[in-house]
Amino acid sequence: MAQLWGGRFTKETDQLVYNFNASISFDQKFYKQDIRGSIAHVTMLAASGILTDAERDQIIDGLNGILADVENGTLEISSKYEDIHSFVEANLIDRIGDVGKKLHTGRSRNDQVALDMRLYVRDEILEVKKLLVSLMKELHILMKENVDTYMPGFTHLQKAQPVTFAHHVGAYMEMFKRDYSRMNDIYTRMNYCPLGAGALAGTTYPLDRNLTASLLDFAGPTLNSMDSVSDRDYVIEMLSAFSTIMMHLSRFSEEIIIWNSNEYQFVELDDAYSTGSSIMPQKKNPDIAELVRGKTGRVYGALMSILTTMKGIPLAYNKDMQEDKELTFDAIDTVKGCIALFTGMISTMKLNKPVMEKSAMNGFTNATDAADYLVNHGVPFRDAHGIVGQLVLYCIEHDKSLLDMSIDEYKAISPVFEDDIYDAISLKTCVSKRNTIGAPGEEAMKQVLAINEEYLKNL
Ligand code: ARG
Repeated sequence: MAQLWGGRFTKETDQLVYNFNASISFDQKFYKQDIRGSIAHVTMLAASGILTDAERDQIIDGLNGILADVENGTLEISSKYEDIHSFVEANLIDRIGDVGKKLHTGRSRNDQVALDMRLYVRDEILEVKKLLVSLMKELHILMKENVDTYMPGFTHLQKAQPVTFAHHVGAYMEMFKRDYSRMNDIYTRMNYCPLGAGALAGTTYPLDRNLTASLLDFAGPTLNSMDSVSDRDYVIEMLSAFSTIMMHLSRFSEEIIIWNSNEYQFVELDDAYSTGSSIMPQKKNPDIAELVRGKTGRVYGALMSILTTMKGIPLAYNKDMQEDKELTFDAIDTVKGCIALFTGMISTMKLNKPVMEKSAMNGFTNATDAADYLVNHGVPFRDAHGIVGQLVLYCIEHDKSLLDMSIDEYKAISPVFEDDIYDAISLKTCVSKRNTIGAPGEEAMKQVLAINEEYLKNL
């Protein structure tokens, strides 16, 4: 047991209590952020005349030594310390002696941990942004390659109207663009430095909080010391944005699982991204997509957990907040892993274009276009809808598609039909005529592709 406090205690901490309370097993993850924060803190203490320049230099050398030794493996972060803050401080004192005891001047572990968590989350937001960029680049490639890859568009999982694969993927592109911008928003809102808030009420030392903030690349210091040590809104916001990312990945995974099924056969997942069965030799399972879908629950769980933890906490710091870490770390690892694997899976997935196109042709996906044909020949839309309904019924009874019907069969239902009906309801026409902004027609797609190209260039 190695702890930073104990002066006012007359008994040793019970071992079970110590274990229950300690956080080193997980907060060691931010040793880098802890050391970086301490370096900024002593730099500011010296600039404010609280430490001498010589003391500052000794402390910074010591901290850099600890960082180097942890990274090269000569210094192990030992579980005999209560938390990462105690570990760093105790090691510093071992290394440089009494001057190390000055590091914690004007600081509490409450503002220290608030800083470490913020620095960690801030770094990870940047990592997630990078992964989202790779994913979006992959989606952009898929879109460019598939402007004329026809497939059915669905509502209620029933064939509705033909679209293209580019258009379908483009829907996800928009979702991930929003996810990316959410990351930026969160970063901007959280980018204020809590260090200097002390335990809850600031300190009596003349700390230059603006300097600490700028040394750590924050936009400025936080403005209320009680809020500074007890705010975890940014964690909640990030987990909420992560939940949305996972929801998007999960929906896409669900579609890929359906498309990869024997019944659909729209896509084939690469062997490297599929797994087999221990009993059924023929199986090639979409486990990665299923795991991404499954892990979504875990990230939602982290969000619910932190929201629940925070809801009853009176100001200011309370130990409940230590519970923010494990679930946040897990959610970060999960989201990063899922985005990366998903990107690999879709970049290696093969499209079965003839099957997709054939599927787009049947199921009366061109029925709306047949009605539009009548409208363009002066029939009111509601009547046109009824006439095409009769056509569909006739086709079902005679096991035909709309394109298989003879012109006489058409005319028997409505004299308005002429020979140009076939061209008007061909798959190509159905898609290419839809050219309003955001629609699947090639012209409309090209506009969006150009916008996305520019968007990706500027990230
Ligand atoms: N391990 C603690 C946490 O994660 C650090 C802050 C401890 N502060 C305190 N007063 N016990 O929240």
